Amino acid sequence: MADKKIDSEVSEAQIAVHWKEEGYFKPSEKFKSQANVKDNSIFKRFSMENFPECYKEYADMLDWYEPYTKVLDSSNPPFFKWFTGGKLNASYNCIDRHLEKHRNKTAIHFVPEPEEEAIQHMTYQELYIKVNEFSALLRDFCGVKAGDTVTLHMPMIPEIAVAMLACARLGAIHSQVFSGFSGKACGERVADAKSKVLITADSYYRGGTLIDHKEKADIAYDEALKEGQKIEKILIFERYPGKYSAKTPLVEGRDYLVNDVIKKYYHAKVDPVALASEDSLFIMYTSGSTGKPKGAQHSIGGYLAYVTGTSKYVQDIHPEDVYWCMADIGWITGHSYIIYGPLALAASSVIYEGVPTHPDASRPWRVAEELDVNIFHTSPTAIRALRRIGPDEPTKYNYHFKHMTTVGEPIEPEVWRWYYNIVGKKEASVVDTWWQTETGGFLCSTLPGIHDMKPGSAGPGVPGIYPIIFDEEGNPLPAGSGKAGNICIQNPWPGRMLTIWGDDARFVRQYYQRYNKDPKSKDWHDWPYFAGDGAVEAADGYFRILGRIDDVINVAGHRLGTKELESAALMCQEVGEAAVVPVSDPIKGKIPHIFVSLKPGYTASTELQKKVTDTLAKEIGPFAKPGKVWIVSDMPKTRSGKIMRRILSAIANKQDVGDITTLANPQVVEEIINMP
Ligand code: WTA
Repeated sequence: MADKKIDSEVSEAQIAVHWKEEGYFKPSEKFKSQANVKDNSIFKRFSMENFPECYKEYADMLDWYEPYTKVLDSSNPPFFKWFTGGKLNASYNCIDRHLEKHRNKTAIHFVPEPEEEAIQHMTYQELYIKVNEFSALLRDFCGVKAGDTVTLHMPMIPEIAVAMLACARLGAIHSQVFSGFSGKACGERVADAKSKVLITADSYYRGGTLIDHKEKADIAYDEALKEGQKIEKILIFERYPGKYSAKTPLVEGRDYLVNDVIKKYYHAKVDPVALASEDSLFIMYTSGSTGKPKGAQHSIGGYLAYVTGTSKYVQDIHPEDVYWCMADIGWITGHSYIIYGPLALAASSVIYEGVPTHPDASRPWRVAEELDVNIFHTSPTAIRALRRIGPDEPTKYNYHFKHMTTVGEPIEPEVWRWYYNIVGKKEASVVDTWWQTETGGFLCSTLPGIHDMKPGSAGPGVPGIYPIIFDEEGNPLPAGSGKAGNICIQNPWPGRMLTIWGDDARFVRQYYQRYNKDPKSKDWHDWPYFAGDGAVEAADGYFRILGRIDDVINVAGHRLGTKELESAALMCQEVGEAAVVPVSDPIKGKIPHIFVSLKPGYTASTELQKKVTDTLAKEIGPFAKPGKVWIVSDMPKTRSGKIMRRILSAIANKQDVGDITTLANPQVVEEIINMP
């Protein structure tokens, strides 16, 4: 694409439409014969005429203390409530109810990153015991009760599941911050959520190094305090229980090793608290188009029903399956499709600590062989990396996937075919699932037993989801038009977040204002959900997602707000202005490049470039490091002083910059193009 002459005013969305339509692949007879969904009748059950009652089918997969009296309360759009009147507990649904049949079955296989360490297998009974004890600790030692928020900054160790489910048992709202986030970013999220308790770990392995994670808790504490929130207790799980492995000392009266304190709570049992369906299960912070991350606040009943239903029908999980999703639990994929969905269905779920390519590109295939994994779930970034380093490795291992998922970014048809042919050995059904932190669960995907697969396309709306594409003016594009526009969901669904934590107005503005024609309307039909992605619908009804239309960059499946990066760069005293643009990358999909201009009196240097990079890592996290820091004499600007990011993007992507004569300073463009 780089060598094509592209007008910089042509959006990414319009460019992508010129990809050709791919041919279909059929699910195997073997898969179909065992699938949870074998025929099209599901779409009849979930037809618009049966909406919203159709979602009973998902709610009825759960155990309720009190039955719900109403499926959907849509009296106050867009604040929809699901299964009202019902009472339940997520921890009970993911653990206790399985004990009778599955107590000795593995709930969690923990695969440490160092290959010389043994894989640990935790049964449902063991999970039950650990969650009860840790719930008792949270309740009696920390005073945590229903409705409180608890922030977690946990790496991929099995205790992350214990901590989440213990919060859920008490009705406390967990807010898990991805472990790759810096201490400062964690502290900001603690302050926003107003948590008094922070749960973390001393250390974890990543890329062969044992990382000191506890030091981030100290920074988080200071940052939260600065923002007016005092963390009363920091609970620290040890990577090796009994052997504290961080260099950072413990602070007396604030920091506690779980392994010590838990002894007082051995054998404790905590009754799961019966909570209202529309109470909150967790908050998950995500990037938006402003500098401040927003907390997507998810419900208990609607969310759990939705992830359970979609895990059963889209992931095709049966209790006897060994399911491995390689995402991090610190992101929504891990919440919905490592913890809540799979465990609600009594599957065995794999938690892998580290990097997929550590120590080499066949690690995932060795794990799959050893554990007999039969459902595999990962991102295009991981697939691209594994393909580049070890294109033939999967063929050397004796594992068989019946089902594979790709999630988080558009996947190139070439990469999809490698995934299907080589990783899946032409046996597995592949689903390309499109959804978001805000949506709780899948929105578009094929159903693995009934639809043909089409590389590069997510597929139709999943049962009960009715997508629609609008043009800029709010006119719906005809179904199957093949034209690009903004994808929306016409109807409410149970997995959608309740609101943005503490900011109802932003919730309405961001997701509904764009295509709502009457803000006073009490009819849900007037409230299409605006996803912020560009998409095309092909004649066969499959949706292809083209990427974000707002200021969010999808880096390796992680959402980064350009504003967040820019405001972090401005923390460098030398930086006067900053602009971030997405640049295509063969592995990560997109990477950010940052352009900065300096305040008077400062000069460009490689040290300063490094300082900007280090600042982004410190303020946000190492995963936010830019691909390149361009120190420019000035930004290309319109006459009204607006930075022309589109031009910067064209330069960084080595594309034609188009007409620049209307700029206030066209000469600067030439200067930047000629930079080394
Ligand atoms: C993008 C991750 C193409 C999209 C579950 C969305 C995708 C954002 C796909 C949400 C897919 C997610 N194909 N693009 N299958 N899945 N996206 O909140 O731009 O981390 O808006 O949720 O990822 O990212 P988030």
